[in-house]
Amino acid sequence: MSSLNLVSADTKYKEEYLEFIKECRDDIKETGFDSVIPLSSEETVEADIKRLNDYRAGKNLPEGWVPASTYWLMENNRIIGTISIRHRLNVNLKFRGGHISYYVRPSERGKGYGAKQLSLALDCCRNLGMKKVLITCKKDNLPSVKAIEKNGGVLFSEGIDGSDVILRYWIYL
Ligand SMILES: CC(C)(COP(=O)(O)OP(=O)(O)OC[C@H]1O[C@@H](n2cnc3c(N)ncnc32)[C@H](O)[C@@H]1OP(=O)(O)O)[C@@H](O)C(=O)NCCC(=O)NCCS
Repeated sequence: MSSLNLVSADTKYKEEYLEFIKECRDDIKETGFDSVIPLSSEETVEADIKRLNDYRAGKNLPEGWVPASTYWLMENNRIIGTISIRHRLNVNLKFRGGHISYYVRPSERGKGYGAKQLSLALDCCRNLGMKKVLITCKKDNLPSVKAIEKNGGVLFSEGIDGSDVILRYWIYL
């Protein structure tokens, strides 16, 4: 995994992004990540990526959203996963969502990419000047629980959201 790196979402990777979405479209929809991961087509990909860049700059944010940076985990010109870093928290994100959401393409799960992606994202958070990072996840999402704890996550609260039990962790940077 030596050529792994996190790159900012950019239209220069639009072909790679379309290839990624081809595999993940149904899974992203089913897991509810389509609010942060655009399900782009040939027609929309450029505009979708430009929109993500607007969000990074705090422009044209949907109601109730905070500025957020999207990165892609890339290996050998292939997108392995995506990560969204919220620059600050609001009431909703404190309850569920936190600073970071991350996603690894289904065919590459269970190979260590999730934990590595999170570790690289923490470097981005340090560069953004954050001192601690909130990450929330469903209690039954074992791969995510393990990736968070492997990256130093300290469990500080557990809550209920509908039928989901939510764990909340701080990672001190
Ligand atoms: C959560 C997610 C990013 C983890 O990515 P991943 O690449 O599979 O994670 P890793 O391979 O780094 O595995 C992390 C840990 O979980 C364990 N793990 C992986 N798959 C597992 C499974 N199906 N059951 C139990 N443990 C599992 C790994 O063994 C590893 O633990 P270890 O370090 O003790 O060996 C990925 O499953 C995903 O994209 N899920 C959908 C989106 C999501 O839930 N995002 C997180 C929102 S909070």
